[in-house]
Amino acid sequence: MYMEDKEKYIGVMDSGIGGLTVLKQLLNIRTQEKYLYFGDTKNLPYGEKSKEELIKIVKEIFDFFETQNVKAVVLACNTSSATAYEELKDNYSFKIYPLIQVVSKCVTLDKNLKRIGIMATQATVDSKKYTQELKKGNPDIEVFEQACPMWVPIIEKKLTDYDKNTAITQYLDKVLEFNPQKIILGCTHYPYLLDKLSQYADENLFINPAKIFAQYIIEDLRHKNLLSEQNNGYVKYFASHNPQEFEKTAEIFLKLKSHPELVEL
Ligand code: DGL
Repeated sequence: MYMEDKEKYIGVMDSGIGGLTVLKQLLNIRTQEKYLYFGDTKNLPYGEKSKEELIKIVKEIFDFFETQNVKAVVLACNTSSATAYEELKDNYSFKIYPLIQVVSKCVTLDKNLKRIGIMATQATVDSKKYTQELKKGNPDIEVFEQACPMWVPIIEKKLTDYDKNTAITQYLDKVLEFNPQKIILGCTHYPYLLDKLSQYADENLFINPAKIFAQYIIEDLRHKNLLSEQNNGYVKYFASHNPQEFEKTAEIFLKLKSHPELVEL
């Protein structure tokens, strides 16, 4: 069926529930759109995978989106923006928005920011993508990147009884020693820990990139004349493993209004 470009879907993807922090902001700004959210619960966590593995995985998800009438795909995942975006970006018919690249561009508009801390997955930190992209925006900026490998498993498994305090401070203390003006939560899962983090440092120190990212995407689609003109927005959810569990875990960020469907990659 022919569909005018502006009435096509906006795809949003992450390894699990983290990308819902971005979807939530997109919905805050623009409910009229039709969104497809893909949580790759089969391959979670991305942060421990190699670049080659991640390119293969993200390619499969983009191939799926290519069959779904999407006008744009939001990489609501730092790890795949860092490792797979550059390799795949030219192979698809839709526009792709990579989180790290977009957010770094927006953050460096403030030329007073000279010292930035990054807390992210191991794969994101190993890629040094944040440092590269922030320096593109401001060559004088100093960046300290800290991997926090325990955080995604804590959040996805809702380990409320886990000793979060130690897990938080062991990474946060290292970043605070660097004396950053701002700390970017460089994994879309991490905003869940904001309450905890703010027990150890001023909450205003942390940047949750979801809002800046969502604003940029909607403005860019507006500029390209690709925003829907209808008012029948909704979200369809997909998970690559155990959609019921995905729906339950998702609640920490968003109460899903429809049941996720299983898509086997
Ligand atoms: N939420 C993702 C990110 O922003 C990936 C987390 C993971 O699966 O390790 O990097």
